[in-house]
Amino acid sequence: MREMQSAQEPWKSSELDLPRPAQCPKIVRLAHQADLVKEFADSVCRGLARRPAALECRFLYDARGSALYDRITKQPEYYPTRTEAAILARYAPTIRRIAGAVTLLELGSGSSTKTGHLLRAWEDNVCYVPVDISESALCQAGRTIGARHPGVRIVGLNGTYEKIFPLFAPFSPLMVIFLGSTIGNFTEEEAAVFFRSISENLTEGGYFLLGVDLVKDADVLEAAYNDAAGVTAEFTRNLFARMNRELGSALDLAAIEHVARWRPESRRIEIHARFHKPQILRVAPRGESFRIAAGEEILVEISRKFVLRELQDELKMCGLQTREVFTDERGWFALLLLQKMGGSFRLS
Ligand code: AVI
Repeated sequence: MREMQSAQEPWKSSELDLPRPAQCPKIVRLAHQADLVKEFADSVCRGLARRPAALECRFLYDARGSALYDRITKQPEYYPTRTEAAILARYAPTIRRIAGAVTLLELGSGSSTKTGHLLRAWEDNVCYVPVDISESALCQAGRTIGARHPGVRIVGLNGTYEKIFPLFAPFSPLMVIFLGSTIGNFTEEEAAVFFRSISENLTEGGYFLLGVDLVKDADVLEAAYNDAAGVTAEFTRNLFARMNRELGSALDLAAIEHVARWRPESRRIEIHARFHKPQILRVAPRGESFRIAAGEEILVEISRKFVLRELQDELKMCGLQTREVFTDERGWFALLLLQKMGGSFRLS
């Protein structure tokens, strides 16, 4: 793996030359490890200074967190992944018929498991650009896809979404893929900024395939985030284990309980870490410490659930027109195929 030489205009780098042999997936790093630790430390300090304390969920996904999330997706209570995969398996050929010859650029690709349905629909004759903050997940996914879909040209991009937007144009015509209802982990404001960035950076006629989890029965939702095997609880605790590893936080992990509740008024699952005894959380790179009281809860993640009509209206205001909605028999999950409109539309 070699690093990009041009941090300012990475898309101009010869590193991105296509096509590449699929057996040796290429990964382009758009962030440096040292920057990530600093970002983590800054973010933890910001989050703990807030009242109520709330951390950024993107830091849940280090190598161990990504592996734990992979296990979550296989738990019997966690329906979103298999429901979305079934929708993709059924409708991937239709999606290809509509979108045609495009590069498939997947944001937050993780293990890329579901993407196989799309690659098959394109008969492996396609360029696939997985984008993920976790280099280990990207590496593993690249290897698996390279082995299963030898015809696919793969260029992995390791970095945050913001760094990727300027790359849309050189990769166009494009279908940007954002699966798993990861958009549910964004606040309303963050989602609005994200949709606008997708729209502004897609060329006219470009596609956006968005997977979203829909509002449903509270019992089903709460069970999905409180699996009996305790994998989701371990995923939550891992954020604090990561602080111990990377920030020297010296926390007693056994004193942390995972609490996930459905909030119907804000249509979201909230995941908290509840501390059973008082602790001092150190953030060594910044020389700061925070006192956590017994019984205190820290918000570690939100997972918003959507109502289709409202979401489509919001996307349309950003210039993203619904071409097709694919869903399952129970109406639990939806895949929206959107297209960047030409002409003028409201962007604010
Ligand atoms: C990645 N994301 C869509 C998951 C979700 O369902 O919100 C993250 C997750 N957290 C706990 N379980 C799953």
